[in-house]
Amino acid sequence: MQNLPYCIHFPKCGGCTTLDLPYGEQLVRKRTYLSGLFSRLNVEIPPIAASPYPLHYRHKVQLPFGMSGKGRERKLILGCYGQDSHTVVDQKQCLVQDRDLTAAAHAIRRWAQKSGLDAYNERTGSGFLRHVILRKGCATGEILIGLVTNGGRPAGSRNFAKSLMEEAQKGISANSRIVGVIQNINTRSTNVVLGQQEEVWRGSSFLKEKLGEYRFNVGISTFFQVNPFAAPLLYNLVLEQVPEGSAVLDVYCGVGTISLWVSQKASRVLGIEENPHSIREAVAAARNNAVNNVKFLTGDAAILLADRASGFDVAIVDPPRKGLEEKALESLKNSPVSKIIYVSCNPESLLRDIKMLSPHFHPDSLTGVDMFPHTRHVECVAGLIKNK
Ligand SMILES: C[S@@+](CC[C@H](N)C(=O)[O-])C[C@H]1O[C@@H](n2cnc3c(N)ncnc32)[C@H](O)[C@@H]1O
Repeated sequence: MQNLPYCIHFPKCGGCTTLDLPYGEQLVRKRTYLSGLFSRLNVEIPPIAASPYPLHYRHKVQLPFGMSGKGRERKLILGCYGQDSHTVVDQKQCLVQDRDLTAAAHAIRRWAQKSGLDAYNERTGSGFLRHVILRKGCATGEILIGLVTNGGRPAGSRNFAKSLMEEAQKGISANSRIVGVIQNINTRSTNVVLGQQEEVWRGSSFLKEKLGEYRFNVGISTFFQVNPFAAPLLYNLVLEQVPEGSAVLDVYCGVGTISLWVSQKASRVLGIEENPHSIREAVAAARNNAVNNVKFLTGDAAILLADRASGFDVAIVDPPRKGLEEKALESLKNSPVSKIIYVSCNPESLLRDIKMLSPHFHPDSLTGVDMFPHTRHVECVAGLIKNK
């Protein structure tokens, strides 16, 4: 019998929900789930591609601050939300986060307790510290600290950042390095973690990361796959489906990871993304990696798909969890592309969108990739071919 990993926070913590199942069994269940969900589509679901490392794979973590105890026992805590609640569990260990990020989180908790700053209270709207966002470049060991705060820059923020960086640097491994501390300001009463405004308190606003042959700069609020071990499996599934020499649209391109990945096979690639910070990093990535057949445009996917799709053979789409908006579906239906490669982190919205596209495109493949071991989430890549 396979030994199961043991976490003191399971099942209270909302992060891992299937830690009590052997990893092989989790993969079987994810495949069974996809086979059931997509049963009417007439596509064979192959075995789920396993994450090369099922433990300590997360290279981005987002942890809420909270307060616990009463009177003299009252103290600031940092952890994860409990299952289906907003009660903060003070995180002592984590089996899916990168170990350096867990060590950095412990150091940040100690720093915050000494700093005298309060945790944000969702009910009253008071308190300063809302979340910590930590990100690590797997290939480089560079770590970025993001502090989401309920308010602007406090007096002495440079000194705060210096002591925070020194504290966090202590617990992490010798070949990792804290490269920057960034404040993200979010004063709204909302469940959305990030605000619009960012200030660099110290160091760099981004870390360096390498996926496959390609180098990227990644900030605190730009999208980047959290499992760097499984991301190449996902991107290779996309690459396999790109016909040699085709002109490719990479819609919802983020910092251009898929654009660069498929540029080796495509005649040209146009990446489309609404976040101007991501596009800035995507343009820099193409330049830094000497990739010359890729261009990027900032704007809404639906509008740019309608205006710029002429002359393209393939559209790769990788939308947020909610899937494609109605206008984007319309633009895709009316586009000249003969193939859509749909990357989805939400099989239910993927199914809905495949049905919406079905008068024009039919699915000919669907594969699951386990980007998030020990959770119920599964990433999918679907190939859709234009109907004759
Ligand atoms: C799931 S991420 C995919 C990123 C990228 N393909 C990757 O693998 O790193 C979705 C991206 O869509 C962008 N996005 C969301 N809504 C958009 C819209 N209406 N138009 C263009 N981009 C959008 C987000 O900013 C985010 O970068």
